[in-house]
Amino acid sequence: MGLERYLRQFPLLGKIENRSWLEAACRIWDGFEQSCSWEDTEQAMLNINPVKGTLADYIRAIMSISYESAKILSSVYSLDIDFDILLLSAFLHDTSKLVEYEKTADGYRKSYIGEIYQHGFLSAHSALNENLPEEVVSNIICHTPQSNHKICTIEGIIIAFADKMITSSKEIAGLSI
Ligand SMILES: [Fe+2]
Repeated sequence: MGLERYLRQFPLLGKIENRSWLEAACRIWDGFEQSCSWEDTEQAMLNINPVKGTLADYIRAIMSISYESAKILSSVYSLDIDFDILLLSAFLHDTSKLVEYEKTADGYRKSYIGEIYQHGFLSAHSALNENLPEEVVSNIICHTPQSNHKICTIEGIIIAFADKMITSSKEIAGLSI
């Protein structure tokens, strides 16, 4: 695992104080990288339609929006936000997209794994396997509209709204979802 590489690729990982959680999160990315069809995960697409951009850009955006929002919420409203939980959840919530989509000869498509598992399930499973906090597992499971379970943490709410902000902005801008 190249922790330095992840810190360069996703700089806000450097704000995570718990080193063992950070290393576990990078191992999870490593695992998905090794089993995905993308040679370079910077090229991995977020979704079927290329106008949605890359997964890596999206993760960086979610981490930044979530981090800045959490700073405001904690300073103005004194909300008790765990920034390690927040950043770990933001970093991992969509990692399973690396295997939920796959490259084809002329583009990419949803994979068999992407068809049979609910989005995020594999990320949550990996987080559980790495003994990351239950809140991280829950935030990953609940972040998607596919989930039938309500979001249970402040950190999860922040990430879900960051996700919605990006998706809704693209809708209004006329970009395909
Ligand atoms: Fe997602």
